[in-house]
Amino acid sequence: MAWTYFKRYRMEIDLAEKPPEPVLPPSYLFLPWREELLEHHARVKFQSFRNEIDANVFACFTHEDGCRRLMQAIRRKPGFLPQATWLAAFQGKSPSPRLEYCGTIQGILDQETRLGAIQNVGVTPGHRSRGVGSALLLLALAGFRGAGAVRAFLEVTAENEGAIQLYERLGFTVVRTVYKVADVPAGR
Ligand SMILES: CC(C)(COP(=O)(O)OP(=O)(O)OC[C@H]1O[C@@H](n2cnc3c(N)ncnc32)[C@H](O)[C@@H]1OP(=O)(O)O)[C@@H](O)C(=O)NCCC(=O)NCCS
Repeated sequence: MAWTYFKRYRMEIDLAEKPPEPVLPPSYLFLPWREELLEHHARVKFQSFRNEIDANVFACFTHEDGCRRLMQAIRRKPGFLPQATWLAAFQGKSPSPRLEYCGTIQGILDQETRLGAIQNVGVTPGHRSRGVGSALLLLALAGFRGAGAVRAFLEVTAENEGAIQLYERLGFTVVRTVYKVADVPAGR
């Protein structure tokens, strides 16, 4: 194991102005938070993050049980905001119209500062670049704004250039650089 510092950005967006309406990609459903969906959020989180840079930064992303515990912890946090927590599902066409869960986002609202915190946004590899991530983010922002948030923020690893581009396109800007230390197994 070796200690590694990961450079991360805090990115924020002002919610004084209404964010654009989400464009929901066809064949995808966006499900508001329900307790019964916790397990699906956890599984999608695992599938979305397991092979990504953030799995080096946060060990919980490397196993499904870690993602389940993280999801339970988010759910229990004061300020957990169901309106900013969404699950995306792909609806296959007949003869296999089964739902395939493929995207997750969770939000927490600090009632004192009225700052919304996006926890993790993840889309499973086979469903990326179709607008699912953008739709999840805009749904979460609408949820924060509807609940009285004045700004929303997230943290992103500096190497995650695709995600940073996406956040900038939606109106987030970098407000601070932070460093996260992680114990990375050799060979990663
Ligand atoms: C970051 C992440 C959530 C983005 O999800 P996504 O569903 O691919 O996001 P979108 O499809 O909305 O946008 C991604 C790109 O696809 C493009 N796109 C959006 N809609 C599209 C469509 N209908 N057809 C084709 N391309 C489209 C966008 O232009 C965007 O490109 P850009 O970033 O250069 O502007 C996803 O890549 C992911 O889960 N990564 C791993 C986990 C992770 O790192 N999460 C972020 C942690 S901070």
